[in-house]
Amino acid sequence: MATVLVTGGAGYIGSHTCVALMEAGWEVAVLDSLENSSAAAVDAIAEITGRQARFDIADCRDQSVVEKVMTEVSPDAVLHFAGLKSVPDSVADPLRYYRHNLESTAVLLMGMESCGVRRIVFSSSATVYGPPDELPVSETATTRPANPYGWTKLMIEQMVTDVVRSDPRWSASLLRYFNPVGAHPSGMIGEDPEGVPGNLMPYLLQVAVGRRAALPLYGTDYPTPDGTARRDYIHVMDLAEGHLAALQDLESSAGRVHTYNLGTGRAASVREVIAAMREATGHPLPYEELGRRPGDVPELWADPSKAHSELGWSATRTLADMCRDGWSWQSRNPQGYRSQSIS
Ligand code: NAD
Ligand code: UD1
Repeated sequence: MATVLVTGGAGYIGSHTCVALMEAGWEVAVLDSLENSSAAAVDAIAEITGRQARFDIADCRDQSVVEKVMTEVSPDAVLHFAGLKSVPDSVADPLRYYRHNLESTAVLLMGMESCGVRRIVFSSSATVYGPPDELPVSETATTRPANPYGWTKLMIEQMVTDVVRSDPRWSASLLRYFNPVGAHPSGMIGEDPEGVPGNLMPYLLQVAVGRRAALPLYGTDYPTPDGTARRDYIHVMDLAEGHLAALQDLESSAGRVHTYNLGTGRAASVREVIAAMREATGHPLPYEELGRRPGDVPELWADPSKAHSELGWSATRTLADMCRDGWSWQSRNPQGYRSQSIS
């Protein structure tokens, strides 16, 4: 395989995966509506790799544009990152989430079918598991999403599975990410949330860079060693490399759907993350201890052994690496991609 179409390639995980793909010799075409990202990310990908990806500002829900791009690019496979991803927004406006995420995927799959492109890697989430019965969580664990966003992921997994079952020329990899954090070590691309960050790492980085006064620490009475919740944080470049492994595996997977957890298999508590980030940034990082955030589970971490045994992939980067590279991005770009257009 040689060419891949990346939907959502200007976004956080998509942009890092584009770098990994291009550095591995793939031809990359990005299709992104820029509704949650910046064209500056695509420029930065070119600067890091020294190569230019084709870039279409387009929406996956627009069938004629999808088919036009698919025909012109003629990719060997599609990496599908595009979608809406905020849990609280999905609770507040579920229909918007169901319509956007399901429709964009259905239209994309129809465009692929009509152009004879039948290999897809889909960005799913550990959110599909909901509260776990046992830890670590393996791919066979019960799925019971606790919010509409998680349901869209599970429904899309089913949609893709049904398409593969309908025609053995299709193959698919459903990748369930745990907690992607960090940035490319160049500090030229990274996570750039709109408004107040909902996730721990980007919030901490904004405290470190002086954009926010103190971290709200949600929950200090969990049944964990230090009372704070524990998660499986994974470096976004490890995640990107997981996509390469999944993509290569699709070549010999006709007629099959594979589901993989992409995590490290290790958990870190909120207090451990604060300590690691203090070490990486040299900033004191004040926090305010608050009650639990509704919907949070005490602990969640992956059993990533299936991806290791079947794809030969495992995460290698440490929590210190995640904090160092996240800080490299945030300190160079205090206002995210807007910093780049100002300079
Ligand atoms: P992101 O918002 O940074 O990237 C998504 C990209 O898709 C954005 O650039 C956005 O402009 C684009 N997009 C959205 N809808 C589109 C559409 N209809 N057509 C074309 N482009 C569209 O998010 P991310 O963190 O990079 O996440 C990528 C994928 O991974 C998402 O599907 C997300 O649900 C999934 N995921 C993310 C996380 C996480 O913690 N970041 C965890 C698990 C799964
Ligand atoms: C969240 C999303 C999940 C997504 C994941 C990875 C929810 C309910 N779930 O999960 O769908 O896949 O991010 O990006 O939003 N915390 C603080 N202060 C903050 C932010 C977070 O103390 O300002 C705590 C949380 O309470 C939690 C931990 O840090 O205990 C991690 O939070 P977060 O980064 O939001 O990830 P998840 O809750 O695992």
